[in-house]
Amino acid sequence: MISLMLALQSVLAAGAARQQSVLRPAGPQADSAARLWWIAFWIAAAVYAITIGTLLWAAWRAHRRVRTGAQPPSSAERTMRRAVGGALGVTVAILLVFISYDIGAGRSLLAPSRSNYLTIHVTGHQWWWEVEYADTLPHDRVTTANEIHIPVGEPVRVELSAHDVIHSLWVPELAGKRDLVPGYHQAVWLQADTAGVYRGQCAEFCGLQHAHMALYVIADPPDRFQSWLASQRQPAPAPGDSVAARGLRVFLGAQCPLCHSIAGTPAYGNVGPDLTHLASRNTIAAGTLANTRGNLGGWITNPRSIKPGTTMPPSQLEPRDLQALLAYLETLK
Ligand code: CUA
Repeated sequence: MISLMLALQSVLAAGAARQQSVLRPAGPQADSAARLWWIAFWIAAAVYAITIGTLLWAAWRAHRRVRTGAQPPSSAERTMRRAVGGALGVTVAILLVFISYDIGAGRSLLAPSRSNYLTIHVTGHQWWWEVEYADTLPHDRVTTANEIHIPVGEPVRVELSAHDVIHSLWVPELAGKRDLVPGYHQAVWLQADTAGVYRGQCAEFCGLQHAHMALYVIADPPDRFQSWLASQRQPAPAPGDSVAARGLRVFLGAQCPLCHSIAGTPAYGNVGPDLTHLASRNTIAAGTLANTRGNLGGWITNPRSIKPGTTMPPSQLEPRDLQALLAYLETLK
């Protein structure tokens, strides 16, 4: 019986959405949430089957009694009272099982598996995620966007805040949802036991582009994670050729530095995502587009045709300037 249930569970999990699913937990926090879900599922399935079975049995008995004209036995009232009392007792027992399991799962979501851990700050913006890796040395702090890199097998504390309205961070394969509320600080633990890329998204309606507020958690072996962090600490390289140099001039001369920063250049805007290592990211516009030259060109030229309502304004650039800007942005590895 148990193996049949487990087989059905794995079929359902495999059939779940390829992109992201709570039924394929990849870390201890998501694992305890998934276990709670399966227990609730199987108990509810059993209660449903017993209720429907009892209903059909009662209907069949009543039908037979009408057909044969038989009278109910004198003990029927007592039997019924006993059955209802028994069902009430079972209901209370089931609710107690749910409550104790729920408390246990809630505790495991809040407790890290060890005392030294990495801390990351995530801030929700309309409609993107700012990600900061804290460090006691200011020049070793790393700011990126829409991608959270974590070391595999280690608990990571993600401290949450919101810049404008309420958002909610949800990476189904790694942890439950946690709201980001302006003026209020919360935290969630992320831990991935398998290396991989896990899609997450905003789970609280936050305006027009709520559905286009995705992010990716990239879990790498610890040494790979450390080399990623070391490369992110570097400022942007100086332009290597005349086209890229022109691109940087276009960037600094246009409206871009008012909102974006590129470490190592005079651009220090902090309204939009930090672009120091833009080319190292897989997507742009919070998971909306693959980070390709064509998509980036379309995004810079007219972002509001891709994400209506976004605060990023359109840019009217000469074709040569746009190509030079794209060539420069591609060097920001
Ligand atoms: Cu941010 Cu929905």
